[in-house]
Amino acid sequence: MLSYILKVMSDQLFEQAKKVLADNDRGAWTVPSGTLYPHQWLWDSCFIAIGLRHVNVARAQTELESLLRGQWTNGMLPDMIFSGQTNLDGLLWDSAVSPFSPPKVLTSGITDPPMLAEAVLAVGQKLSLPVRRTWFRQMLPGIIKFHEWLYRERDPNHEGLVTLVHPYESGLDDSPPWIEELKARGIPLWVHLVNNLHLGFIVNLLRRDTRNGKADQRMSTVGALSFFSALRRLRRQSYDSAKILKRPYLAVQDLVFNCVLIRSNTCLAEIAKTAGVTLPDGLVKNMERSELALEKLWDEATGQYYCRSFSRGKLIRESSIAALLPLYTGVVSRERAQQLVEMMKKRSLFKVNWPLPSVPTSSIYFNPAKYWQGPTWVNTNWFVIRGLERSGFKEEADTLRQKTLEMVAKSGCREYFNPLTGEGLGAENFSWTAALVIDLTKN
Ligand code: GLC
Repeated sequence: MLSYILKVMSDQLFEQAKKVLADNDRGAWTVPSGTLYPHQWLWDSCFIAIGLRHVNVARAQTELESLLRGQWTNGMLPDMIFSGQTNLDGLLWDSAVSPFSPPKVLTSGITDPPMLAEAVLAVGQKLSLPVRRTWFRQMLPGIIKFHEWLYRERDPNHEGLVTLVHPYESGLDDSPPWIEELKARGIPLWVHLVNNLHLGFIVNLLRRDTRNGKADQRMSTVGALSFFSALRRLRRQSYDSAKILKRPYLAVQDLVFNCVLIRSNTCLAEIAKTAGVTLPDGLVKNMERSELALEKLWDEATGQYYCRSFSRGKLIRESSIAALLPLYTGVVSRERAQQLVEMMKKRSLFKVNWPLPSVPTSSIYFNPAKYWQGPTWVNTNWFVIRGLERSGFKEEADTLRQKTLEMVAKSGCREYFNPLTGEGLGAENFSWTAALVIDLTKN
């Protein structure tokens, strides 16, 4: 009986999620949400393709191919490709200040977690071997150039850890480690002034996220304005990593990003092997170095992985869901994996009614409704589920998968969820929630 109910629930969810993806489809790519996010985002499209492959493989391929139209000539894949040739976001980023930005496509000037190899590998599994090989050969040059760019421009000291220069690059915009780094580096005076004069309501009228959603579920005024200020600084430096990292303002060896990179490197090696392509020696060395470098982010005293400040050269001892992401890499030892699973099951940390909260419940930052400072997100659950499976924790993976599906069945394909009540928050009809739910119902 139970399995019958679960089957009906999965079938209904599958249909509901398919509809969300169809509604957000813009032809060759999909918007994360029709109202809040009208452009194409790098890691969103990767999650979307991972789900879409169960519905329409050809369309999943197009989703990923369309990302390459935004690739910069130096190899960077931007986090956003803007819709249309003229729009405010495009003007704000003004990527033309860099000689490497593509002339005919408007993009942002920063990157996003490197999920492309994982998505290409996943979509490839749905193709026959000869077609898969051909498609892998088509996608490989873009992925290789991107990973080479990450190491060449963002790992200047050859540590095996990539440095991010803006919180948006982490995909977890206002998560506590980045806010801590912001505080350590100094919040701009004018931001303090706007905040102290209680002018946040005017700022909210200008912000798309607060115009289209509840302000108390989004980033704070101080966070949003400081990140805007950091963006202007990057633009003044023409998005040139060498210049930026010489005197960095915000620069973090981000835990989520580096975990995604390690997993992506494994996928890249598999794609190359299937395609019969040899990866450049330099890249292979960097890939190997990254696996070992993860341990530099481990803190023995507190028994946790953290982000590390590049400018200050020390760990940012402020926890977030990132702490569990090393599971996803597939390269941590059995002992470490066991430690992470214990953290996940601890009530003062990640054990809640609707797991996994984006911040441990004991953190001073924890707020069940606020963006990346407490709510449960389906993409981070997906990372942990896949990691648990790969590390041999099948029961824990099944429980988290089941809970995730129940949460979305109860509250819809929302952007994020209250981890205490399961209530849906943020944007409605959110694409990556839909896509990853499809993937979780299928395997
Ligand atoms: C928010 C998220 C980011 C995502 C984007 C589009 O900015 O923090 O991770 O890519 O929305 O969905």
